[in-house]
Amino acid sequence: MLFRTLVGVLSLLVSSAYCEVVRYERPSIYDKSAHFSLQVNGTEMYTVSYAGYDYVHLSMDQGHPTEFRIKTLSQGSTIKSYSITPKQLPIKAKVEGNELVWSMEKVHYLIVKIDDLKEFVIVVDPTETNAPKSKGTGIFNVLDYKADNTGKTVTTGIQAAMDAAAKQPGSIVYVPAGLYQIGNLMLRSKTSLYLAGGSVLRFTGKASDYKKLYHKSDLHDGTWWIQTEFDSTDIKVYGRGTIDGNGYNTRQNKYMADLLVPVGTKNFRCDGVLVRDSSFWAVTPIQVEDALFTNLKILDRFDVTQNDGIDVVESTRVTVRRAIAIANDDSFSTKTWPYKTGTTVPYPYQPRPLSDVVFENTVAWTKCYGYKVGQGVHQRQTNVTFRDGTVYAAGVGIGIHHLFGTEKATGVTFQDIDIENLAGSPGGRGTWLAVWVAPGGRGVGPIEDVLIKNIKARDQGHKNGFLQGYNASSKVSGVTFSDVYMLGSTKPATSLKQMNLLNTSYSENINFANSNFEALSCTSIA
Ligand SMILES: *[C@@H]1O[C@H](CO)[C@@H](O)[C@H](O)[C@H]1NC(C)=O
Ligand SMILES: *[C@@H]1O[C@H](CO)[C@@H](O)[C@H](O)[C@H]1NC(C)=O
Ligand SMILES: *[C@@H]1O[C@H](CO)[C@@H](O)[C@H](O)[C@H]1NC(C)=O
Ligand SMILES: *[C@@H]1O[C@H](CO)[C@@H](O)[C@H](O)[C@H]1NC(C)=O
Repeated sequence: MLFRTLVGVLSLLVSSAYCEVVRYERPSIYDKSAHFSLQVNGTEMYTVSYAGYDYVHLSMDQGHPTEFRIKTLSQGSTIKSYSITPKQLPIKAKVEGNELVWSMEKVHYLIVKIDDLKEFVIVVDPTETNAPKSKGTGIFNVLDYKADNTGKTVTTGIQAAMDAAAKQPGSIVYVPAGLYQIGNLMLRSKTSLYLAGGSVLRFTGKASDYKKLYHKSDLHDGTWWIQTEFDSTDIKVYGRGTIDGNGYNTRQNKYMADLLVPVGTKNFRCDGVLVRDSSFWAVTPIQVEDALFTNLKILDRFDVTQNDGIDVVESTRVTVRRAIAIANDDSFSTKTWPYKTGTTVPYPYQPRPLSDVVFENTVAWTKCYGYKVGQGVHQRQTNVTFRDGTVYAAGVGIGIHHLFGTEKATGVTFQDIDIENLAGSPGGRGTWLAVWVAPGGRGVGPIEDVLIKNIKARDQGHKNGFLQGYNASSKVSGVTFSDVYMLGSTKPATSLKQMNLLNTSYSENINFANSNFEALSCTSIA
């Protein structure tokens, strides 16, 4: 008896010591969801009401079954239908009246749809293992630099802490929970920025608070909000805090900003932050060598255009691992965009090719492309891989859109991708695959060596797909299809027609390499 009690107490101690759910207090500027509540292992999480969908962010230890319990608040009756994305996850949920309940051991980024309510996005991260102390040697706490954490004034305290930290390479700027309205923030070489859970850096939305860095002819003047200094190395941005671009209001004010811009830097790291409401491309590594983004959440709005999730630009060896990007425009893409053309973006170096970029274990939701190379191919793009991805909804699931520039896009792989739904863009392309060259007024160029492997297209879109070059010098050539499953079929497609790929002019050397099926080959049917 005593023994059993002891065991009970011990296991309680063990589970509380080693297993936890961490929630992040909701900053005062956000409201809680009017539609959903979420309990994780019996503890109420802090939901956030948002445009188009609501969300909740938490971290948890992995390896033990943990109960997730959503309650719908806006309807008293029983839940009639639901889906949990990624659908390929082995999550078995059950309905208990107006609650949806399931258990999971691993962390995931989930999009839950219940009846005809807006989506509820549940972003679960692993508990932090690398959180610094808030004070101590090498720690520059922004409150010691008079940062205003109430959001009442535009504060320069974070930059002040950053500049002080940079004098001791290897230091960490510590941002505790609170609301900070800030102007441009320059990240210094060999210095880390730590955003504690519950901290929010917020863009003010007013042009006069920022340095104008470019003008985009079809939009507005704009800035890079949080950027690395040129020729820097070893900069890290991490923690469970939020970078809030206040994008909808910014665009109402006819201004715009990229939110997080590692540029002209080497060995950049970004882990765990939540980026929301961008007024332009949200996260843009530009002319970066060696970067790793992990546990990245980009939650943009659908009513702000050109707010791409992450665009990797003219960079090499960039990996994005474990990420969700929700945006009106492309979720995940690579570009070689022109230097001083159309916009006057002040890139640090001459134009550079892009190579060796990997996006893996990601979730996309967009009105445009889930996963895309392009549209700019002004410099060569080589060896770009999108793998282990889920498209919740999109205008185009996956693709290469060579619209601007004359260089080659080559060595592009789309592998292990589940395209769930293509209802994203009523006026757009509406197809699962678009690999095509089109003249956008700044030249055309070829697409070569593309592998499309183990793709599940549960939807093919309301328009036909594209595998289409432009002319004899800008073809699509060398495309291999391996195990593409259309519309729930259990057999992989063996013809372009089965994949609804009807626009195939100027495409050649198209192959099928299905596992367990005879290898087939066909040339362009155009
Ligand atoms: C949730 O509760 C279960 C059962 O008590 C426990 O095994 C698990 O570790 C808990 N999960 C977390 C993340 O604390
Ligand atoms: C492509 O890029 C990946 C990621 O950087 C790298 O591991 C791989 O070696 C590259 N492949 C080639 C052929 O260069
Ligand atoms: C293809 O089109 C481009 C752009 O119009 C042109 O510069 C190029 O000469 C064309 N190539 C051929 C073989 O017609
Ligand atoms: C694509 O194919 C469809 C149907 O075959 C055709 O109507 C359409 O004009 C083609 N589009 C282009 C851009 O070639």
